[in-house]
Amino acid sequence: MPVVTFAVEGRDNCVVLGDSSYVYARTEYGSFVLSTRCPHRGGPLNLAEFEPGRSRLVCPWHERATSVTKAIKAGLPAVRRGDRVTAVLPDQDGSDYTLEHRPLAPALAGCRTT
Ligand code: FES
Repeated sequence: MPVVTFAVEGRDNCVVLGDSSYVYARTEYGSFVLSTRCPHRGGPLNLAEFEPGRSRLVCPWHERATSVTKAIKAGLPAVRRGDRVTAVLPDQDGSDYTLEHRPLAPALAGCRTT
């Protein structure tokens, strides 16, 4: 299992491994490593926003909502130290990972949304 250290925000804030990619999300409910691919059809969950007044994230493509507490529980093992996070990623048949930038919705970038 690859162990990868990447930026919490800004340049190189996204790990790409095979068909999967991950960012560090900071919400008012907790912080966690989030898969950027929506399980529905691969929409960009890094751009998801909260439903008004609720703790569910809404995918920007087809507006399916996901409980943020479920997403936190399903997050990858990770630890944040300062502006870096180290995460254990799932095996991807020996694929190398790359780092790149992905924008984050305010709801996932530590900005209060209520
Ligand atoms: S791709 Fe996310 S709801 Fe369809």
